[in-house]
Amino acid sequence: MPRHIVLVGMMGAGKSSVGSWLSQEKAIPFYDLDRMIEEAEKATIAEIFATKGGEYFRKKEMEMVYQVISSPPGVIATGGGTLLNPSNLSLLKEHGFLFYLQASLELLWSRLQDKTDRPLLFGKNPKMTLEKLLKERESLYKAADMEIEVDGKSIEQLGELLWSHWI
Ligand code: S3P
Repeated sequence: MPRHIVLVGMMGAGKSSVGSWLSQEKAIPFYDLDRMIEEAEKATIAEIFATKGGEYFRKKEMEMVYQVISSPPGVIATGGGTLLNPSNLSLLKEHGFLFYLQASLELLWSRLQDKTDRPLLFGKNPKMTLEKLLKERESLYKAADMEIEVDGKSIEQLGELLWSHWI
């Protein structure tokens, strides 16, 4: 049975952008876990974190993982924290090929510094928070089947690279 292409990595790595590109170029379904949660909850991620809390968000995220693994094969953009739940990791690995979109802290920060929609990046020094999250999570992301370096590549280059490695 064909498997999903699963994109994992930090916020700002380009999971949603590359996922959307692949879906359009290769005519395959696109599942963006964050957008699915927003649609189901009729609220933004920031609003969900603020009103219902992180634990609630993670519960919804897990529900979406269940939903997508039983949907027709396509490309799945996970959220930066989806793999924190070991059951998400094993389900996604079972049903897909995981690509870790590995981006440098500098690239992530350049993309995120003006954004206000990432509730986990708060406090006096959000860049330090980002660095801490990256350090804490790197080993989880490295559980992916393949690592792809993002720095210096366009969305098209990344998309074609993923497509050529998808097995
Ligand atoms: C999160 C990343 C976000 C979103 C939420 C939590 C995280 O997704 O799921 O804000 O824990 O890193 P992106 O990686 O798509 O920004």
